[in-house]
Amino acid sequence: MDLYEYQARDMFERHDVPVLAGIIADTPEAAQAAAEKIGGLTVVKAQVKVGGRGKAGGVKVAPTPEDAKTAAEAILGLDIKGHVVRRVMVAQGAAIDTEFYFSVLLDRANRNYLALCSYEGGMEIEQLAEERPDALARVAIDPSHGIDLPKAKDIARLGGFPDELIDSVAPVLVSLYEVFASEDATLVEVNPLVLTESGEILALDGKVTLDENAGFRQPHHADLADSASADPLEEKAKAHDLNYVKLDGEVGVIGNGAGLVMSTLDVVAYAGENHGGVRPANFLDIGGGASADVMAAGLDVILGDPQVKSVFVNVFGGITACDAVANGIVKALEMIGDGATKPLVVRLDGNSVEKGREILAAANHPLVTLAETMDEGADKAAALAAK
Ligand SMILES: Nc1ncnc2c1ncn2[C@@H]1O[C@H](COP(=O)(O)OP(=O)(O)OP(=O)(O)O)[C@@H](O)[C@H]1O
Ligand SMILES: [Mg+2]
Repeated sequence: MDLYEYQARDMFERHDVPVLAGIIADTPEAAQAAAEKIGGLTVVKAQVKVGGRGKAGGVKVAPTPEDAKTAAEAILGLDIKGHVVRRVMVAQGAAIDTEFYFSVLLDRANRNYLALCSYEGGMEIEQLAEERPDALARVAIDPSHGIDLPKAKDIARLGGFPDELIDSVAPVLVSLYEVFASEDATLVEVNPLVLTESGEILALDGKVTLDENAGFRQPHHADLADSASADPLEEKAKAHDLNYVKLDGEVGVIGNGAGLVMSTLDVVAYAGENHGGVRPANFLDIGGGASADVMAAGLDVILGDPQVKSVFVNVFGGITACDAVANGIVKALEMIGDGATKPLVVRLDGNSVEKGREILAAANHPLVTLAETMDEGADKAAALAAK
């Protein structure tokens, strides 16, 4: 789960990372009031979960509260890379001397943590990494040691910080690591981390990604979830404990087991090339022991996607044999009743496959077509979606 900048700011504050005042506002009037409360120069910042807000006109300096109102008028409703701005954060303005970059993240490829640090911040980090790779230090972090003060000093030195700044920046890096470790984050990024004209180090921006697998031991993270911005179908799937990811194609996909569903997506995309370029509409894994209820919930979610034109059910009977799955599909269609309006292609294989196919053939549902193989099923589903 990605956090909004204001949520990251609040989290930083709780872990003693130095930040400036910030107040959230969803109207120009509220932004003006927030700026009055903060006093002095403020910066009005779009709160969207996407990078590059500044370049898109989503970050504006406001010398007076009236300017904050005008800035909020311009920013609220702005579309930044497909994210419509609903709220702004009015932040206390900093007198910036220098901008730096720091992040710590989960390094999946090396099964380790990784800190990235540069004295040259402010610009996009991808650009820095490409144009001046030497200016960006990459420091492997052993999770069992983390970042203590000596390690933080090493990181800052490797990132090119001059000697006179090491002692003031290092404790901030330690606190940022503290956020990363104790909140079970997979990313904590500060761009820019700044030195102010009065010599303070401050985090002026924050990107935090939390590991949802740690939700059981981070109960307060549930409050950070943002149901308004989540896809309603993804919300519905979550309520049924289904593993669902919305994609942008036309062929709904249901399978059991993440590996099978992933390869089904590939096969559907491949088959779709022969049918006008139709593509998978979603990832949905109903898991190993899927009951009729789970199948019904899954179908319900997929059929609720207006973009879906056909559905491909691709199940390998294992612990739950194919006859149980077939009964599940038949019952699911009964439960959904008139809600089922789109053609379904079903491919079953594995335990008790013959029985499973018999059950579906006997039910003879007008919307269901059987397929013997995965390729055949994908092709039929793609053809139906292209109609
Ligand atoms: N509170 C502040 N006071 C003064 N200047 C600020 C403040 N916040 C941001 N800025 C300036 O605006 C620039 C852009 O801000 P910020 O990094 O938050 O947005 P961004 O980088 O455009 O967005 P993103 O990080 O989402 O790509 C900063 O590099 C900094 O120069
Ligand atoms: Mg930034």
